[in-house]
Amino acid sequence: MFQFSIHIFLIWIFIFSDVLQTTESRCREGCDLAMASYYVGLYDELPTIASYFGISYGEIYSKIMPYNPDIPSPDFVLSLARIRIPFSCRCIDGEYLANRFQYNITSGDNYTVIAQKHFANLTSPEWLASVNSYPPDNIPNGATVNVTVNCSCGDTDVSREYGLFLTYPLRPEQTVNSVASELNFTHPDLIREYNPEVNFSGGGGIVFLPTNDSAGSFHPLKSRKGLSGGVIVGISLAALVLSSLSIFSLVVLSRKKKSSRDLEVPFRREEELEEKTLSISKSIVDDRSVEYSYHELARATNDFGLENQIGSGGFGVVFYAVLRGEKAAIKKMDVQSSREFMAEFKALTLVYHINLVRLLGFCIEKHLFLIYQYIENGNLSQHLRETKRPPLSWSSRLQIALDSARGLEYIHEHITPVCIHRDIKSSNILIDDNFRAKIADFGLAKLTKVGDISGRRLAGTFGYMPPESAYGNISPMVDVYAFGVVLFELISAKEVIFATNQSVAETQGLVDLFKVVLNRSEPIEELHKLLDPRLGLDSPIEAIYKMAILGKACTRENPRSRPNMRSVVVSLMTLSSSSVG
Ligand SMILES: Nc1ncnc2c1ncn2[C@@H]1O[C@H](COP(=O)(O)OP(=O)(O)O)[C@@H](O)[C@H]1O
Ligand SMILES: *[C@@H]1O[C@H](CO)[C@@H](O)[C@H](O)[C@H]1NC(C)=O
Ligand SMILES: *[C@@H]1O[C@H](CO)[C@@H](O)[C@H](O)[C@H]1NC(C)=O
Ligand SMILES: *[C@@H]1O[C@H](CO)[C@@H](O)[C@H](O)[C@H]1NC(C)=O
Ligand SMILES: *[C@@H]1O[C@H](CO)[C@@H](O)[C@H](O)[C@H]1NC(C)=O
Ligand SMILES: *[C@@H]1O[C@H](CO)[C@@H](O)[C@H](O)[C@H]1NC(C)=O
Ligand SMILES: *[C@@H]1O[C@H](CO)[C@@H](O)[C@H](O)[C@H]1NC(C)=O
Ligand SMILES: *[C@@H]1O[C@H](CO)[C@@H](O)[C@H](O)[C@H]1NC(C)=O
Ligand SMILES: *[C@@H]1O[C@H](CO)[C@@H](O)[C@H](O)[C@H]1NC(C)=O
Ligand SMILES: [Mg+2]
Repeated sequence: MFQFSIHIFLIWIFIFSDVLQTTESRCREGCDLAMASYYVGLYDELPTIASYFGISYGEIYSKIMPYNPDIPSPDFVLSLARIRIPFSCRCIDGEYLANRFQYNITSGDNYTVIAQKHFANLTSPEWLASVNSYPPDNIPNGATVNVTVNCSCGDTDVSREYGLFLTYPLRPEQTVNSVASELNFTHPDLIREYNPEVNFSGGGGIVFLPTNDSAGSFHPLKSRKGLSGGVIVGISLAALVLSSLSIFSLVVLSRKKKSSRDLEVPFRREEELEEKTLSISKSIVDDRSVEYSYHELARATNDFGLENQIGSGGFGVVFYAVLRGEKAAIKKMDVQSSREFMAEFKALTLVYHINLVRLLGFCIEKHLFLIYQYIENGNLSQHLRETKRPPLSWSSRLQIALDSARGLEYIHEHITPVCIHRDIKSSNILIDDNFRAKIADFGLAKLTKVGDISGRRLAGTFGYMPPESAYGNISPMVDVYAFGVVLFELISAKEVIFATNQSVAETQGLVDLFKVVLNRSEPIEELHKLLDPRLGLDSPIEAIYKMAILGKACTRENPRSRPNMRSVVVSLMTLSSSSVG
């Protein structure tokens, strides 16, 4: 009798907890790690993407890089390819597995823009509307909204082999079937089982794909994760107290767990996955080409009207335009260049570095046009010399030096074949809204190699050219020399070539001026005379002196005694960390 009532009681607990699990809570606990597959657009920058997921610039290295061996540095990300961003997957309100990120609304944002653009379809406008109290058509500017990105921790019903999942938004041209075959899943049915609600023949959407972690492991599920605590307690009690009940638990267990031994590893190798992703994205580039039509450019610039002109150098005229929804600077030049050459040039448009003005595309109808990302805040020469602009502080000058050095290091060391800028100068260093510097006209150097461009560009700009360039001796050290001159400009804000007091006809260069001063017996005293008067009096003279010494090393006559850009970057980093401290 007593035994019988316990029987009933346990069966009751048993059924009740099962019901509880399926109707009242859909999840119990999340997992520490899930991955978002973020499709990087043409204009995206890694620090911005990371910030959406609550990852600061300083954390990119430790949090994002290990999962993306293709990304060489936090300032660099390959466009039109997928990257993996780790996040923790939580069980929210017992209802669904997701992470809730906070996003601050700026003008122009709505749920569609947040979901499709900023979060690369990792969430949907409908889903955002349902997790936020603001109605879609009335989100106040400056508001913080919840951005919920769904995730998966695996499913014991499907397989115990896989505990780490990628939240993978399909591109419009992808279907689940095509992804499975593109990624060489040897077991496409597995994806189907993990994504029972997804339409496999089209319509986009998000799928969950098993993925390797940074060490290459698939993170097998820990045992019994899918079973609710109540059920487990019920089972063990039953097994302990009443042998008859263990039959129930066997039934339940076999319902909950399918044998997974016969399932194969879905990816051949992680590298193959990455390679495949790259080649997919390359084919997309060929479709949505970076080649613009003359018509498109003419329309966007008011037929190259004067009112759209923002600059003219010795090399061409620069126009402002809004192209395909983004602000752009279009450089119009009269240069003949072959299509074969442009094919190589096209690769440069895929290069992204935060300290290089982005090359968005080109057009070779009628003239040669290069289309660059538009930078709002003018060039360094203007900031140093135009009195209507507020003076640059020492710390922003140091930052600008470091930014430009990093951009140059990138084109010297990370692009094949090696790219030499050949026209580094303060007017080719652009300053953005946050006073970060980007090197402009990068890419033109490639043209000068093949083009029959005569005049200024071929030789560079007077005052920035090292002695060896007069003999046509061109190496990356040409840029190092010019960069040294820019360092002198940052310190003194003087023109690179100026008339001496004694005679108007006689000119003097900044390099010689600094050389004389730095060779004196009391160089720091003398250096005070060269300082930009607009530089605050509290500027650290020790640091300024060190920068001047670096400039002197960069402008040594023998190119082989100049430091390379990598060591210049290291020196400037040391300088900038010691000035902060
Ligand atoms: N991508 C850009 N964004 C904003 N302004 C630009 C851009 N590219 C060029 N400019 C502006 O146009 C000016 C002239 O450019 P350019 O013809 O390259 O002259 P230069 O060869 O003397 O640098 C630049 O100094 C800069 O102020
Ligand atoms: C959003 O704004 C708040 C306060 O305005 C700030 O504390 C928070 O850091 C911002 N969040 C992000 C992700 O920028
Ligand atoms: C969201 O903003 C974009 C661009 O500003 C606009 O095209 C779109 O119609 C907006 N969508 C909604 C639902 O308001
Ligand atoms: C997101 O989806 C929309 C609609 O399918 C598409 O136009 C857009 O390119 C997608 N964005 C990304 C980054 O995949
Ligand atoms: C996220 O999951 C919830 C609950 O399963 C679902 O209603 C929602 O549509 C999902 N969102 C997206 C963008 O897939
Ligand atoms: C974000 O989600 C939290 C938790 O559900 C909720 O309290 C808050 O109101 C939400 N924010 C908005 C803007 O709706
Ligand atoms: C996928 O498998 C096929 C056939 O085994 C092979 O030819 C192809 O190269 C593989 N693709 C990748 C990216 O591994
Ligand atoms: C799945 O997508 C295809 C292609 O978009 C569509 O024709 C089909 O009706 C969809 N099926 C379901 C069940 O929604
Ligand atoms: C991914 O995991 C599988 C199974 O553990 C393993 O065979 C494969 O080598 C891993 N890939 C990498 C790149 O380590
Ligand atoms: Mg220029």
